Amino acid sequence: MKLSNRAKNIAQSEIRAMSILCNEKNGLNMAQGLCDLEVPLPVVEGAKEGIDRGKNTYTSAYGNYKLRAAIAKKQNDFYDQGIDVDNVLVSLGATGAFYATAMSLLNEGDEVILFEPYYGYHVATLKSIGCKIKYIRTNPPAYEIDFQNLKDQISEDTKAILICNPSNPSGKVYTKEELQTLSEVINQNDLFLFSDEMYEHFIYDELEFVSALSIESLKERTVVISGFSKIYSITGWRLGYAITQKGIIDAASAFNDLVYVCPPAPLQNGILKGLNELPKSYYENVAKEHQKKRDKFIKALNDAGLKAEYVKGAYYVLADISKLEGEDDKQKVVTLLEKTGIAAVPARAFYQESEGIHLARFCFSKKEEELDEAIERLKRL
Ligand SMILES: Cc1ncc(COP(=O)(O)O)c(C=O)c1O
Repeated sequence: MKLSNRAKNIAQSEIRAMSILCNEKNGLNMAQGLCDLEVPLPVVEGAKEGIDRGKNTYTSAYGNYKLRAAIAKKQNDFYDQGIDVDNVLVSLGATGAFYATAMSLLNEGDEVILFEPYYGYHVATLKSIGCKIKYIRTNPPAYEIDFQNLKDQISEDTKAILICNPSNPSGKVYTKEELQTLSEVINQNDLFLFSDEMYEHFIYDELEFVSALSIESLKERTVVISGFSKIYSITGWRLGYAITQKGIIDAASAFNDLVYVCPPAPLQNGILKGLNELPKSYYENVAKEHQKKRDKFIKALNDAGLKAEYVKGAYYVLADISKLEGEDDKQKVVTLLEKTGIAAVPARAFYQESEGIHLARFCFSKKEEELDEAIERLKRL
């Protein structure tokens, strides 16, 4: 059997591999990025009502109109961006939204610039559609972009830059100034920006989150990707969205139609009710709760000798696992699993060349009991 070249690019992710190993060892899974919140009641009720009221057939390939309007309203309520319903595509998760918009904007051979450490699905999606990827390394603790280097790396083939803000896995949150400088590079070189804002509400230390679409000079050139998997704790429902100019949304709706036909009909009703009924304080409380989890878990990592910075956003932390036995990052996370029963993700999941990078990613979006258990177990190191 000869598989396609495309299939060779879609290797099983390190995150899934670690989760499997964790299950085998009956360990505590801090590798997977699930959010351990309760699903908000209106979201559950809305989905049930959707089924009870017979909303079981295809919706528009753009997603339910009322839901698109509610997403536009939320974006405007939070960031005052003047988003219209025509600027929104509902897809199968942020993953589907990225796929559909990337298919609409990028040709085979186009180059996209990504910053390391990256989120693996971005790489796999771009590879699967035949794009070339240029990786630019950013380093702890601040993971800042070296803008001169970025400018030097842009080639004739470069079509887009992708950022993850806040970043999975580094927790970096881009400042307004950084986005403005990025905008100059984007405009001067006639590029697009993909801004994955999946963790927009997971922001700590009262920092301000700046969405790329809030930068006036990025408005015409940005695709924002976000979704509900994390903030409503419904990773299995598969609902996310893209926000960008209408022409791109129209093209992307055709890819949505082709691959998914439409997002899950009754579940869209759940999101609609959630958006309509959950107050702003819901989102603020999620951030507050996660900040507490961050504080106690990162302290425990440092106490155990796994040095880690207090991240500014998202709910992951990259910790230095140099002190653990093993020749490389993979062996070291296996040592961690054997000694503590905690599964984390090795650096190789986030870097093209990870040799010598002894970092592991932990997800701290865990229930209190589990987090306390992890903190106890870290004392074994
Ligand atoms: C940065 C980022 N974007 C997108 C996703 C996927 O989101 P969805 O479940 O909406 O496809 C994740 C999930 O871990 C993520 O970390």
